[in-house]
Amino acid sequence: MLKTFVADGDLAGSITVKEYEGRYFPASVSDIPSQLKHMQSFDADDNDVIICSYPKSGFHWIWEVVTMLVNNTSNISKDFPAKYILEAGVRKVEQLPPPRVLGSHLYYEQLPVSIRLKNCKIINVIRDPRAIAVSGFHFFTKIKESKWTGSWAGYLNLFLNGKVLFNDWFQHTQFWERVRQNNPDNPIHVLFYEDAKKDPFYEFKRLARFLQLDVQDSTIRTIAEKTKFLNMKTSKDAAIRQRMGNVFTDNEYPLYRKGIEDDWKTYFTLQQNAEFEQIYKERMQYNKLQLKSIVNPGSLDTGCVETTKYESKL
Ligand code: A3P
Repeated sequence: MLKTFVADGDLAGSITVKEYEGRYFPASVSDIPSQLKHMQSFDADDNDVIICSYPKSGFHWIWEVVTMLVNNTSNISKDFPAKYILEAGVRKVEQLPPPRVLGSHLYYEQLPVSIRLKNCKIINVIRDPRAIAVSGFHFFTKIKESKWTGSWAGYLNLFLNGKVLFNDWFQHTQFWERVRQNNPDNPIHVLFYEDAKKDPFYEFKRLARFLQLDVQDSTIRTIAEKTKFLNMKTSKDAAIRQRMGNVFTDNEYPLYRKGIEDDWKTYFTLQQNAEFEQIYKERMQYNKLQLKSIVNPGSLDTGCVETTKYESKL
């Protein structure tokens, strides 16, 4: 069912999504029930890896890194990561030989049952939700089909109310935290976007260890270099133009937009940030995952931290 959400009060902007079983999908997806039903029949291999993230958290980047680690190569792929997002359709990926590097914006309970039964390795990519809101705002101002014509304040309002694609960031993050907490023996690894920006070699080495891959430090260093934002944007340009030629306006591809930690600071007013932090404190008061700026007030740090990390099983 199509649903249009309008920003509160006199804030400008509205967004149209397709609702199915309480989740909000892109309005353009044609037959969500049969797509999701088919997804459930996906036969996962023990060695498949799933990157689970809220949209705009850095999936395209980390997919590239994990694909290079899994294949023990320092060559960036020519492939298009969105093809591997499970809910976008599994017909193409189910024919590929394992191990496959897959992605999803769904909750754990909604993933294909074989992924849960086989206890496949899962990577949770988590990014500062303020950066996610700004990234989503730009994404929707560029996408032709459901172009956002409202204001930044209007988009932020809908984001804070969970009236955007794949629903509420807070709920998504809480559900996944609960999965990690309730299943401490499951192989689920948390990767923070901002930490990977600061020290990609260290974070990618941790990733390789989690995936039980024997990749040389020199290869990991090259992967860190080749997947730096500008290098990656250049490498992926041809694949994106071919796959997404007509999807965005002005020939711009917001999947690789700026790729920095604190661009959100140029969009949030001081008041918006104070309100955001207040909402975060209320909604996430029982969660381990916190904004660094709340844990350490006055610091310029951006990103999240999990106060007591549920240790990923290495
Ligand atoms: P911005 O819009 O803030 O630039 P996703 O892949 O989950 O949709 O996330 C998209 C975000 O990841 C965009 O953020 C995009 O620019 C950023 N991104 C893409 N490649 C990146 C890279 N190699 N390094 C850092 N960020 C990257």
